[in-house]
Amino acid sequence: DKGNHRHFMQKEIYEQPVVVAQTLKSYLRRLENQVAMPDMDFDLTAIHRVTIVACGTSFYAGMVAKYWFERFARIPVDLDVASEFRYRDPVLEPGGLALFISQSGETADTLAALRHCKANGQTIAVVVNVPTSSMAREADLLLPTHAGPEIGVASTKAFTCQLAVLAALAARFARVRGLMSAEDEAGIVEHLAEAPAGMNAALGHDEDIEAMAHLVAPARDVLYIGRGPDYPMALEGALKLKEISYIHAEGYAAGEMKHGPIALIDDKVPVIVLAPSGPLFDKTISNMQEVQARGGRVILISDAAGIAAAGEGCMATIEMPAVHPLIQPLVYAVPVQLLAYHVAVLKGTDVDQPRNLAKSVTVE
Ligand code: F6R
Repeated sequence: DKGNHRHFMQKEIYEQPVVVAQTLKSYLRRLENQVAMPDMDFDLTAIHRVTIVACGTSFYAGMVAKYWFERFARIPVDLDVASEFRYRDPVLEPGGLALFISQSGETADTLAALRHCKANGQTIAVVVNVPTSSMAREADLLLPTHAGPEIGVASTKAFTCQLAVLAALAARFARVRGLMSAEDEAGIVEHLAEAPAGMNAALGHDEDIEAMAHLVAPARDVLYIGRGPDYPMALEGALKLKEISYIHAEGYAAGEMKHGPIALIDDKVPVIVLAPSGPLFDKTISNMQEVQARGGRVILISDAAGIAAAGEGCMATIEMPAVHPLIQPLVYAVPVQLLAYHVAVLKGTDVDQPRNLAKSVTVE
C-alpha cells in the first residue's frame, strides 16, 4: 500500500526517519548512553581485520563504513564488490571478520562470497533487512536493519538503516579496542539519535528539490562529486539517478576530477556537489570552482554555513541541517534520493520497476 504517495520509492524515502529510529532502537541504549549489539559468541577484541563485501547500494554503505571503522576503530578494512571479491583469490587470514551487507540477504554474488569466507575461517557478520534470508541464517553475527519491506527496486530506506547499524558497529569496535572513552561513546549515541530529526529536516526541502529536477532532467550526463564519506554518497546519488531516470551519471571523488572527468564539463553537464561544512569543505569547494571556471553548472548540497561561503555562482543550492559528521551520510542520502526521484517522475519512467532491473539479484 502506497498510502498517499505516488510511488513506493517516494513512500520509502519518507519512511526513513521512522525506520532509522526503529533500527537505532535496537542498537542504542539511550538510558545508559551506550551502543548495544546482539550477543556475540566470538571475541570482538580478537578481530584484526575486517573484510566488507556487498553489491550496489549496499556496497556504498560498506564504503562509508570503511571510513568509520578506520577512523574510529583503527582497524584495517578491505572492501570490494562481491562479484570481484569472490573471483580474485583474496587473502583471508585467521582472526578476520567478514562483513556482508544486503537488503535482501539473497544476492547471489554476496552469498557466494560469504560462503567462501566461511570456508576460509572468517567470522561472518551480516547486515541484512530480511531476517529469514540465507545470509541471516548462515551468519555468526546477525545485525538486522528494521527498514520493513522495501518494494521500490531502487534501495532507499534499507541503505540509511544499514548506515545506522554500521555506525553503531564502528563505535562498538572502537570501544572494545580501547580507542573510545565511555564519554565519547555517549556522544556517538547522542549524535546517532539525532539522525531521524536530521533526515526529517532534509525531507523538508522536498519541494525545492522537485523544482530543481527541471535543471537535471534535460541532461544527458550528470556528475556527482564529494570527498570522504561523501564520495560514496556521490556514487550512490549517481546510481540512484541512472537506475530510475536512465540519465548517465557518474560519481567521483572530488579530487579525481582533474585526473580526467573535468574534460567532460560544459554547460550541459550538471554537477552535483556534496560538501558539508567540515575539514574537507575547502578542498571540495576548490574542485567545485574548477568545474565552474569551465562553465559547469553546479547544484551544491551543503549546510547554511557552506552555502553562505560558497553558494554564489551555483545554479542551485540545497540546504541540509548542520549535523555531526557521523550522521551526515544518513542526512545527505535524502536529497540525492529525492533529486533522482523527481527527475525520474519528470521523465515519466517506471520509478518503482525500472527497466532491466530486479529487486533481488539471485543469479550472478
Ligand atoms: C540500487 C539497488 C541495488 C542493490 C543491489 C544489492 O538502488 O537497489 O544496487 O543495492 O542489488 O542488493 P542487496 O542489498 O539486496 O544485496
